[in-house]
Amino acid sequence: MMIEDIFSDSFLAKAKADFNNVKSKPDLDKTKSMYLGSDSGVMKGFSSIPKLSADHRAEYGKNLNSLKSKLEVYYKAARESLDKGTDLPGLDLSLPGLSERSFAHGHKHPTSQVLSQTYDVFRGLGFSIVDSDEIETDWYNFEALNMPKDHPAREMQDTFYVNNGKSNLVPRTHTSGTQIRFMENNKPPFKIIVPGRVFRNEDEDATHIWSFYQIEGLVVGEGISMSDLKGTLLTVVQSLLGPEVDIRFRASYFPYTEPSVELDCKYKGKWLELGGAGMIHPQVLINGGIDPEKYTGFAFGWGAERIANIKYGLTDLRELWRPRFVFLEQF
Ligand code: DAH
Repeated sequence: MMIEDIFSDSFLAKAKADFNNVKSKPDLDKTKSMYLGSDSGVMKGFSSIPKLSADHRAEYGKNLNSLKSKLEVYYKAARESLDKGTDLPGLDLSLPGLSERSFAHGHKHPTSQVLSQTYDVFRGLGFSIVDSDEIETDWYNFEALNMPKDHPAREMQDTFYVNNGKSNLVPRTHTSGTQIRFMENNKPPFKIIVPGRVFRNEDEDATHIWSFYQIEGLVVGEGISMSDLKGTLLTVVQSLLGPEVDIRFRASYFPYTEPSVELDCKYKGKWLELGGAGMIHPQVLINGGIDPEKYTGFAFGWGAERIANIKYGLTDLRELWRPRFVFLEQF
């Protein structure tokens, strides 16, 4: 467009029509840049002022200013009518959908993914999910689970002791203490899992971390047997890792179960240790206020990170606690 044209009636009429016809935000931007952008006739007119003779400058500048104001009125009207159309100022309904634009989406951390899947599987089996505290007393963490002071089984769980001079508190070394807390406050039958963080005084390496998530399981009722335990664990492991996965029990020892077993799963041809389990020791039931003559039950516990490890083929557990996007974005 030639600079002279901009003062014609037809230019103004066309500008008005163009702004009136604007249907979208990109359309509005385009029209604005055509009439008011740095390449527009009006703006070029302004930059040509210094080249004009002194007599012409004032009048030319005045005309340009008046034209610019008119164009700005058209622009404002077009913008307002666009905003009204959406009832939400600034919302551009004509923007392409997400599929056409690349967005950085957040996603669940791999450990959270495993925890969510675990909750789904257990909910499907009728378990309730119970929350619990990360700081525990010595009684619930150890003593009530048949681990009095100086019991060698305490050695299995290197502990951060908190000594404030009054109480004997520990950042819990496992979620098993919640077994007792739950039994004290609930009447059998019940089926629960207790997910949560636990803390151990570990020297860290690729397979040991000082804090991790455990899933504790507790089932108490009349006539609960070892085969219930095995059937439950088989269903859960297969739901989490695939229907082809097999499990086995190895004889083991935990002070709070009798008999006690170690749970392994056969994943891609290899036996891998998952966690501990067993029939609840009668003294533990008594400590929780439950009559072992009437009720029996089973318990189990494993690390959520261990499932993540197997599922995703991780080589260094510590990555799950590092904020490294290069690693996390793979899941
Ligand atoms: N508390 C054990 C640990 O942290 C895991 C465990 C073993 C939990 C046997 C249980 C159980 O409930 O019965 O290593």
